[in-house]
Amino acid sequence: MEERIIRISETYSTNSLLLSMAARGAQSGQVLIAGRQSGGRGRMGRSFLSPEGGLYLSYLHRPSLPPRCPGSITAAAAVAVCLALERVCGIKAGIKWVNDIIYGEKKICGILCETAPGGAYVIGIGVNVNTPAAELDSLTDVGAAGILSLTGRSTDLRALSHELISALDDCLGRDCLEQYRSLCLSTGRRLRVLRGKESFEAFAESIDGDYGLVIRRDDGSRESLFFGEISTRL
Ligand code: BTN
Repeated sequence: MEERIIRISETYSTNSLLLSMAARGAQSGQVLIAGRQSGGRGRMGRSFLSPEGGLYLSYLHRPSLPPRCPGSITAAAAVAVCLALERVCGIKAGIKWVNDIIYGEKKICGILCETAPGGAYVIGIGVNVNTPAAELDSLTDVGAAGILSLTGRSTDLRALSHELISALDDCLGRDCLEQYRSLCLSTGRRLRVLRGKESFEAFAESIDGDYGLVIRRDDGSRESLFFGEISTRL
């Protein structure tokens, strides 16, 4: 396991560094882990605060066949995170669509999946593990927290990284739709959809076969969302 992991104490962003390694031919399964990031990147151009104590991991995936649908890679990564957290930390985390990992109603992990040349993907995962709450970005609607502050137990980052890499190897090689559906916390509830300048309330019914969030608007019409954000704050 350790032979395919590069560990560094600090970098700007493990995703940025692994993207440049991918362009120079790094192999599928290559992993890069940093102790902290000075410019951690999140979805939608946001930053991801990455102080010491968290797990900042990027994984290079070169699928042998193109993925069945665009959402399947990031969904597989979200399922892998939940499986690893249960095995190592003993917590049952869930997924806020698309791929925020939630425990105790707080965001404990974010995932940023980026494409690289040659049909490759760099999957970046940031887990707030032993990170003090005061150092975390609380800009999400649920707020962020570290596993240590939520459970009172500190986690061995090396053990978590090994379990996460094994879970990624497994989940990226199979269909995770049913597991994603059962881990998803966003269905069966009313929420607010934020899409560009648009914002409206709707009822989230289910996850469709392409990982879209099926919503029912108040006029009774249904549609599947494949991008944008949702908030449980109405
Ligand atoms: C989000 O919540 O918007 C996604 C956050 C993704 C953060 C991880 S940390 C490891 C990797 N490197 C980055 O710069 N970002 C991802």
